Amino acid sequence: MRRAKISIIGAGNVGATAAHWCAAAELGDIVLVDIPETGAMPKGKALDLAQAAPIVGFDAQLVGTTEYADTAGSDVVVITAGIPRKPGMSRDDLLATNARIVGSVAQRIAQTSPAAVVMVVSNPLDAMVQRTWQVTGFPPRRVLGQAGVLDTARFRAFIAAELGVSVEDVSAMLLGGHGDSMVPLASCASVGGIPLTQLMRPERLAEIVQRTRDGGAEIVSLLRTGSAYYAPAAAVAQMVEAIVRDKKRLIPCAAYCDREYGVGGYYVGVPVVLGAGGVERIIEVELTAAERAAFQKSVDAVKGLAETMARLTG
Ligand code: NAI
Ligand code: 2OP
Repeated sequence: MRRAKISIIGAGNVGATAAHWCAAAELGDIVLVDIPETGAMPKGKALDLAQAAPIVGFDAQLVGTTEYADTAGSDVVVITAGIPRKPGMSRDDLLATNARIVGSVAQRIAQTSPAAVVMVVSNPLDAMVQRTWQVTGFPPRRVLGQAGVLDTARFRAFIAAELGVSVEDVSAMLLGGHGDSMVPLASCASVGGIPLTQLMRPERLAEIVQRTRDGGAEIVSLLRTGSAYYAPAAAVAQMVEAIVRDKKRLIPCAAYCDREYGVGGYYVGVPVVLGAGGVERIIEVELTAAERAAFQKSVDAVKGLAETMARLTG
């Protein structure tokens, strides 16, 4: 059987760690790409990872390169190219630089892998997915963004630690942009099937929701030199698996919403069914009045950023 071809653009912290998780799970053959200015760095990382294969026990071809020709015919392309934030910066501060980088990457992908599902990770996430969709001209279902899997994982990890239960028993959902106004849905969180609202005081739950919103900044302030990458990369691998194994996972991701949730033609985080075709379905959940208002605020922030990006990129 032919193995899936997964290209990861940007061989930095998130890209290389995603390659690690994807290889260890035998999701396919992996091409790790970076810019010529990084010299042989992607080649070095791919070779190092390939030499872990006999120890860990995975079969996958790993290629590190600065040439897009090596990515030709990819089934999945993950874009992590760009700059991460430093302490004091918001994701939005990355807009101008990353819009230029992601735009150029998207153009190359459209030429070399016209049938790929493209997953964007670079920040500010929702705007970068919108840009990738515009530049590739791919159908919206084949362009999506990773953020919700990471943000719900943070929410789930905090809930599990608070209640002293396994993370495996905590289920959660989240809506909105990957920014300070994201909307973790307390009404959709449960532990072993029991609604979270029956297990935690509202004040404590509100604190955990806020810590989830600040989850990226918390890591940035601890690392000081960049942003989170182990959990983001694990989130990428889970989504790649859903695509290459056609798992139809119901997970949150940045998807193109037009009539859905009344968004009107923007990428924003929503629950989707993710399978071989990319976003196969967007699920609309019933929201409380407070959740609906918070979601609208988050959508407005996403639209504002997309409009600034449109001005910057002409
Ligand atoms: P990093 O600095 O470690 O790696 C970025 C890599 O992109 C570098 O190796 C750089 O040389 C490369 N690059 C720059 N321009 C390129 C181009 N035109 N083509 C190919 N490669 C290029 O940064 P890190 O930590 O890997 O983060 C990458 C991006 O992902 C950042 O924008 C960060 O904010 C974002 N991010 C998003 C998350 C999410 O949940 N959506 C989570 C974590 C990070
Ligand atoms: C995060 O949430 C930086 O967006 C990235 O960690």
